[in-house]
Amino acid sequence: MLISLKDALEFGEKNGCGIASVNTPTLEMLVAAIDVAERYGVPLIVQHAEVHEPVNSIENIGSAMVELAKRSSAPIVVHVDHAESFDYVKRGFEVGFNSAMFDGSRLPYEENLRITKEVVELAEQYGGRGVEAELGVMPGREDGEHGNNAGDASLYTDPELAHDFVAETGITALAASFGTVHGLYKAEPKIDYELITALRERAGVPIVMHGGSGLSPEEYRKCIKRGVQKINYYTYADKAALEAAKKLLVEEPETFVFSPLAVAARNAVDKNFDALVQCLYADYLKR
Ligand code: 13P
Repeated sequence: MLISLKDALEFGEKNGCGIASVNTPTLEMLVAAIDVAERYGVPLIVQHAEVHEPVNSIENIGSAMVELAKRSSAPIVVHVDHAESFDYVKRGFEVGFNSAMFDGSRLPYEENLRITKEVVELAEQYGGRGVEAELGVMPGREDGEHGNNAGDASLYTDPELAHDFVAETGITALAASFGTVHGLYKAEPKIDYELITALRERAGVPIVMHGGSGLSPEEYRKCIKRGVQKINYYTYADKAALEAAKKLLVEEPETFVFSPLAVAARNAVDKNFDALVQCLYADYLKR
């Protein structure tokens, strides 16, 4: 069934969980994500990022995301990830996504504020959909060697600015920069836990972690305790898919069609998401 971003985040806060928010640019990843959510009966967010348009358009994979979420026994949010424009959010809402992130973090503050406000208004017009927006800069692939500028506090989100931004826009959740990076970690992440506490207090809404793959169970737990309720996760799952496909080709070089690779990839992503869910929802699953 579809649930709202707000309800998923409230579940996280009430039960001491980080809600897994996984990118599913391919059907293999999408099916694995829904299967894992159903296996554990936990809320999960499936999301499509604008940067993955060349893999599958939001109209194509998004229709499958909405349909599978609606007919699932698990509570699922269908979310637009890193929309770089108002129009991309609108495309997602038209497909049936019930939540969206507008990423204006690299824009001047006033422009980020203005477009985020417009996105919140749009979400209201579509019957009250969830909105996430970002302040502070998350290093990533485009910054060269991944992780080399992790720990550069000048890129981190300022709690006072976060307060003003959330108060003025009325967003549901705030994506913030506090030490994680997108993509593969080439250096140890340096997470500023005190900053997460300050951000949660001053922003007054749940904090979203981007660059969620590659952290240790202990790092996730500490972030969740301090107010991170949405954990965006992609690279390490898709990497597991690639490794499984490569392994199959080595072990069975006579493979002459593509579909067995898709199955191997889906099984590997399933295993990867399963471990993630066991970690992020540990306190809830223990009960
Ligand atoms: P990773 O690919 O580093 O896990 O980050 C995912 C993400 O933040 C998507 O918004």
